[in-house]
Amino acid sequence: TGCFTYDPGFMSTASCRSAITYIDGDAGVLMYRGYPIEQLAKQSSYLEVAYLLLHGELPNQAQFDAFDNEVTHHSMMHESIRHFLRGFHHDAHPMAMVCASIASLSAFYHDKIDIENPEHRRLAAVRLIAKMPTIAAACYRYSVGWPMRFPRNNLEYCTRFLHMMFEVPSEPLELSPTAAKALDLLFILHADHEQNASTSTVRLVGSTGANPYASVAAGIAALWGPAHGGANEAVLKMLEEIGDAKHVDSVVAKAKDKNSGFRLMGFGHRIYKNYDPRAAIIREMTHKVLADLGVSDPLLDVALELERVALKDDYFVERKLYPNVDFYSGLIYKALNIPKEMFTVMFAIARTSGWIAHWIEQHETADTKIGRPRQVYTGAAKRDYRPITTR
Ligand code: CMC
Repeated sequence: TGCFTYDPGFMSTASCRSAITYIDGDAGVLMYRGYPIEQLAKQSSYLEVAYLLLHGELPNQAQFDAFDNEVTHHSMMHESIRHFLRGFHHDAHPMAMVCASIASLSAFYHDKIDIENPEHRRLAAVRLIAKMPTIAAACYRYSVGWPMRFPRNNLEYCTRFLHMMFEVPSEPLELSPTAAKALDLLFILHADHEQNASTSTVRLVGSTGANPYASVAAGIAALWGPAHGGANEAVLKMLEEIGDAKHVDSVVAKAKDKNSGFRLMGFGHRIYKNYDPRAAIIREMTHKVLADLGVSDPLLDVALELERVALKDDYFVERKLYPNVDFYSGLIYKALNIPKEMFTVMFAIARTSGWIAHWIEQHETADTKIGRPRQVYTGAAKRDYRPITTR
């Protein structure tokens, strides 16, 4: 009963109005606040994009400097989070640790903020963007048994993160500028993607009035799945398993066989029925980054051959399955020495600005209601209870 539409997977339901990100999946267009992703990728920086997502406009120099200073100021992680992390088994997946640590920020900061106050909401956004890389690097170092590093606040956002990841005492970290630049570009491309599963989760949790840290932690949990942000880790595992371009044909055949239960990871997208514009940018940069870093990775040849074979196969052509953002990103992370268990964490760092921009927008929108989907009931009709002895 009731008047509602059955729409599993929300194929045709707009859950909100949003002015943040525009996608035209048929044309392969992605814009943040009206700016084409190609222009932002070429000319902007992740922190500038984060400001744009949050505030709706690109910052002028003074606004950018103030934002950068504030993010830098809040980059430290509370010492108690380090104790909290110690409770994890040493081989816990970093996504489990990051998700729990971000949720735990509610316990450190939430009772000090009033989510009805726009300035308090903004401060929560700054804290999340600032602390996410510190927490992510701490989780990584814990998982490999290294002592954690403080954020070096004389460095910019991505370089600071790479230092927290890889720096060891008494050995200066030789970082190629290419590495920080490549990371910054990947973060720009991953920063927002309108109502994807994790952002919708942040909004659903946010719609109950839950605090921003709990809302973003829920988004991290949603991101983890292999159909969403977990795909970048799954792609690299798949490429490693294929091992050599000569095995590509059999993998493509397996992906077409519905009984195999196997899908080509990093292929297909709910919205893009054309080349994912982010994948196009990453594909081009993968060659350049690997060359600049002096890395030669045979898995790049496997990936290129897989793409070539799939894109001329009727199965993929008819279903409009193209490489998505996750197909090539893992190869760049790998070239930066980031282990594959961290790939989805990298995605989470970048998406934090998008998630929190949506959370803020939701609180600024007058017609926001608690998210409460309906269902089509398929269970038993009314029946009478029988005592256990008679069952
Ligand atoms: N390999 C083989 N077949 C596929 C694939 C794939 N990667 N993706 C979709 N299909 C087939 C699917 O079997 C179905 O075929 P049929 O119509 O014969 O039943 C058809 O294409 C449509 O697929 P769908 O599952 O109905 O499409 P969806 O919009 O519900 O799912 C998707 C989109 C991204 C979950 C899916 O394409 C997929 O599982 N891809 C692999 C995982 C992946 O790369 N995910 C990352 C997405 S982009 C980044 C992000 O969001 O985090």
